Amino acid sequence: MTSRTSQVDFTGVRWGSVEWTNLVTLYLRAYESRSRRPILGDKAAAEAVDRINYDFRRIHRTSLPASNQYLVALRAKQLDDWCADFVARHPDAVVLHLGCGLDSRAFRLALPPSVLWFDVDQPGVIELRRRLYDETEHYRMIGSSVTESKWLDQIATGRPTLVVAEGLLMYLSEGEVRQLLERLTDRFDCGEMLFDTTSALAPLLSKVLTKGITKWGIRDAREMESWNPRLRFLEQTPALAGYQKIETTAVRLIYKLVWATPMRAYDVLNRFEY
Ligand SMILES: C[S@@+](CC[C@H](N)C(=O)[O-])C[C@H]1O[C@@H](n2cnc3c(N)ncnc32)[C@H](O)[C@@H]1O
Repeated sequence: MTSRTSQVDFTGVRWGSVEWTNLVTLYLRAYESRSRRPILGDKAAAEAVDRINYDFRRIHRTSLPASNQYLVALRAKQLDDWCADFVARHPDAVVLHLGCGLDSRAFRLALPPSVLWFDVDQPGVIELRRRLYDETEHYRMIGSSVTESKWLDQIATGRPTLVVAEGLLMYLSEGEVRQLLERLTDRFDCGEMLFDTTSALAPLLSKVLTKGITKWGIRDAREMESWNPRLRFLEQTPALAGYQKIETTAVRLIYKLVWATPMRAYDVLNRFEY
């Protein structure tokens, strides 16, 4: 898969908007790729940041990259490993990357050429994304809320289908999550779903700290098996697992401290099959 090489102007992106939060996580992944021993090593993110005209120095000052780079790198790495495993077993897979933001997963994974990849996000985010990346025969972008049903009509059925949703489901209501899973399992014959879920406390905390943007959390995502008879739980792991690989001792210790508290299970990565 290829991405463009020309410069793009993102100076109009409003500070604090959803598009801006995607620039922050893109920046953190790019930053992490430049460390001596990267965990994720997202060179595609670094190339994208180099092409974007935006005040990344301000993002650098406020996003605490020295420690926060690992929040995104550890989570993305585990999901990448699960994705790579699926496409190795199913080189004819269709991949739906929901709530993709500006993530370069489709470019940083070495995908078999027969994989068909769809990056899906809200229209405003996809409009920005289209300035960065070109569509190809094997790489498409869809600008739609995942809570709509029509976008699914664009996706061919009959092939093993992998659904990846990183940092997405917590922004939907429980009803919307249930309906999305049902639409996916109704439309596609078989595949896997990889997604992170936040603690049941997350929406309550969000009411106090982040104006209620986190709408849904769950005590244990294994409960979702009972929501939908087609879903079978495979495995789960806290997003912070793997913190031992952090190279800087001081930062590793901070993560170790968090790991020793119930906060380690705040964000959990889940793998289901259907
Ligand atoms: C925290 S960002 C994560 C982006 C990306 N997955 C990453 O890890 O960098 C959440 C993304 O979910 C998208 N999102 C939220 N609600 C959505 C919806 N109903 N439909 C599609 N995308 C949605 C947002 O636009 C945003 O790009």
